[in-house]
Order: sequence, then C-alpha cells, then structure tokens
Amino acid sequence: MNRPVIAANWKMNNGPTSAREFMNSFLDQYPRQYDRTLLIFPPALSLHAVAESLVDRRDILLGVQNVHWADQGAFTGELSVGIARDAGARVVLVGHSERRHVFGETSEETALKCAAIERGGLTPLLCVGDTLDQRDTGDAERTVLEQLRTGLSRMTQLASREIIVAYEPVWAIGTGRTATSEDAATMHTAIRAELQTLYGDRSRTTPILYGGSVNSSNAAALLATGEVDGLLVGGASLDAGSWLTVARS
Ligand code: PGA
Repeated sequence: MNRPVIAANWKMNNGPTSAREFMNSFLDQYPRQYDRTLLIFPPALSLHAVAESLVDRRDILLGVQNVHWADQGAFTGELSVGIARDAGARVVLVGHSERRHVFGETSEETALKCAAIERGGLTPLLCVGDTLDQRDTGDAERTVLEQLRTGLSRMTQLASREIIVAYEPVWAIGTGRTATSEDAATMHTAIRAELQTLYGDRSRTTPILYGGSVNSSNAAALLATGEVDGLLVGGASLDAGSWLTVARS
C-alpha cells in the first residue's frame, strides 16, 4: 500500500505570524512520522515562515496553492514554478475547484500548469471534481475523468511518483457535506483505472487523495476505504487540534 499523504490547504488564511505560531504548536505535538507524508499549502507569503519551522522535518513537505505556467516574465501578481521551488515548495496544487469555479481556470490551463511544474522539477497535485448538477445528471464520472485526462495531457514523462491526484467533489468542499466512503471509493476506482489506461503499471503508486469537508471525525473512516490514499483538508487544517487528529489518522 502507498504511504498515505495528508495535505493541508490553508487557502487564504494564516499570514506569516500566525503560520509560525501554528507550526510551533503543531510540531510540539506531532513528532516525526515516516509512515505517512504530510503536505502543507500555506499562502505563498507564509511559505518562508513555515519552511523555517521545518528545517529538520523531512516528514512534512511544503507546497504552493497555485502557479502561472510561464517560467518568468511580465505577469504581475503571479508566481512561477521556479520562484515556488526557490522558496521551498515541492508540490503545487493545480485545478482546485476554487480556481476552476471562482477564478475561471480551465482544464487546458491546468494542463499548461502541470507541464510547467514537471519542467520545473516539482510535483503537481491535480484536483478534479464534479458539481452537484453533474452528479444529479449522471455526468460526474465523465467530468472528473475529462478533467484528469486534460490536466495531464501535456506532461511528458509521468513516472509513478511524479503526480498526486485529489478527487474533491465540488458539492463537498467547505459545505460540511462529505462524500460517503462508497462515493469516494467509486470515483477513486474510476480514476485509478483511467491512470492505468494512460500510464500502465507506473501509475500504481500514484496517490489519489479525497478532499471535501474532511474533519477529525470522518478522516479515519475515509482512509480506511482501500481506494483512498490520503486526504486534502481545508477548513479542518486551520484548527491545530483537528488538524492534529487528521494528521494522526
Ligand atoms: P474543505 O476544503 O476541507 O474545507 O472542504 C477542502 C479543499 O478545498 O481542498
């Protein structure tokens, strides 16, 4: 079985000062654990503060929540993969539902970003997910697999550990409504089969995470679903106590 990946997406919360305070209290209570990988996605301006707190913690990796696909240039307000890497990021979130639905990011843009991340030597964490409408009209799986195929379409040399996928049903994000373990398992099985078709056995160790209203009460049950290789956690990662419980799940 893959080592579980438990990821915290802080979204637009925790500036450098509160990020430092959060990490101090979290690390005090979370000794090194090598049977799982923890990932933290702070806001980009807090990355340095979190990186400083992790100098001798190789069990916890850092990521950024978004990048531009160009390597450099006149893109005011944007962040390149090279800048993210230089600041200590190893992983980049791509295609999060808030990027897709609030900022209008298209699947083709996620593909450009995944290619840039590969070029820059970091790991993309590609998020895919269906809306409630798509679920109700029986279109959930087609939507998710299309987002997956398009997002990965410009990557050239996928090896097993070079990507992470997260299934995040849009209707479960920040709503308090979690997918049932069966919903998650069904979609994860479809994603796994699609990765197998695209990349063969190399994809067997690609982690497929679940995200959407994960909290300290449901994390263990979701992880117990054989198909769920880890969790992507928003709201519950902002509270040190609940994040600790999820991280230890
Ligand atoms: P949530 O967010 O856990 O608050 O639902 C998950 C995410 O957006 O990645």
